[in-house]
Amino acid sequence: VSFNLNTLVKDPLLSSDLYRPDWVQNTPRAPALLWLDKNENMDADLLKVTNGILKNLDPLAIATYPDSGPVYRKLSELLQLDPKMLRLTPGSDGGIRIVFDAIVSPGDKVIHTSPTFAMYPVYCKMFGAKPIEVKYVRDANGPRLNFSELLTTIKNERAKLVCLPNPDSPTGTILGLDELRTLAKTCFSANSILLVDEAYYPISDVTAQPLLNEFPNLVIARTFAKAWGLAGLRVGYLMASSQLTEIFHKLRPMYEVNTVAVFVLDRMLDKYDVVLASVRRLLAGRDYFLDEMRLLGFETTNSHGNFVHVNFSVHAEKVHSALSCRVLYRKAFAEPCLTGYSRFSLTTREGFEPIVSLIRGAVR
Ligand SMILES: Cc1ncc(COP(=O)(O)O)c(C=O)c1O
Repeated sequence: VSFNLNTLVKDPLLSSDLYRPDWVQNTPRAPALLWLDKNENMDADLLKVTNGILKNLDPLAIATYPDSGPVYRKLSELLQLDPKMLRLTPGSDGGIRIVFDAIVSPGDKVIHTSPTFAMYPVYCKMFGAKPIEVKYVRDANGPRLNFSELLTTIKNERAKLVCLPNPDSPTGTILGLDELRTLAKTCFSANSILLVDEAYYPISDVTAQPLLNEFPNLVIARTFAKAWGLAGLRVGYLMASSQLTEIFHKLRPMYEVNTVAVFVLDRMLDKYDVVLASVRRLLAGRDYFLDEMRLLGFETTNSHGNFVHVNFSVHAEKVHSALSCRVLYRKAFAEPCLTGYSRFSLTTREGFEPIVSLIRGAVR
């Protein structure tokens, strides 16, 4: 018998058209520009605090394995949630993958919105799922989810897993708690797990957490990458019924997060007020930027994420050229619900001011 990789690699991986970005050729972003392209939080006041913690990093952290018990206990206290309902994850992306790993076998149906966070379609392919997309429609104010279509799809398809970022990305749209309850109930009746991805919490403070005790089929994924300004640490967490969480812990590697992350989190979890203050600065920046864009006559969406959309319409080329020396952002979308819009991650008012000046100058 001769070596044949195709007979050895897991089937869904090979049979699907799963392409991933090159892992060598990508180039780092230019340091001189303001990075508003990946929905991070680089608020200077928050950075001072997180870097202050890093400067006092225990020298042993680099040489020793992590002990994450204290972080579980602190997080459980902050969230007012039984630690048996918590699983630390490598970013919320890692959390989403764990949910797929626990729930999805080849051929299983997975319902997700479209467009949505890029990894949902990727994990569908990776785990051999049959993806069922519920597409955003376009309204006068940008993308809108047809909620009754989502519910009907769940009832008809009886998928293993239903995924919804709330707010969703890149649309910025959101469901309220009543709709989330209806969604969880519909999933429960259809025997589906509901994954609510709250990556942007507490930039949007809507949460499905009050439903956790009601619905054993509910999982919530969160991250320290957005509001907490810790995207580089790659930490997040899953919240779910203790029954489901036990399964997620069965899938735990030897160590679920690294020692530097545990060190920083242990200190940052005592400083939630600092995080909330940063969120307030981002939201004030958002309000300022949106007001200025509307004054200039540009359409904007009502985004609940840590990003905003602006439609520069006939001025787009001039604006993009004026901003190119100053800021990285997403210039355009191919998806029909967002065509014509550009997207900027949130920054503070001070961060947005020079951008507003350049845009004003370009359209004058
Ligand atoms: C909706 C959504 N979920 C998950 C993630 C992944 O976040 P993390 O950096 O925690 O993996 C993102 C990141 O942009 C996101 O927008």
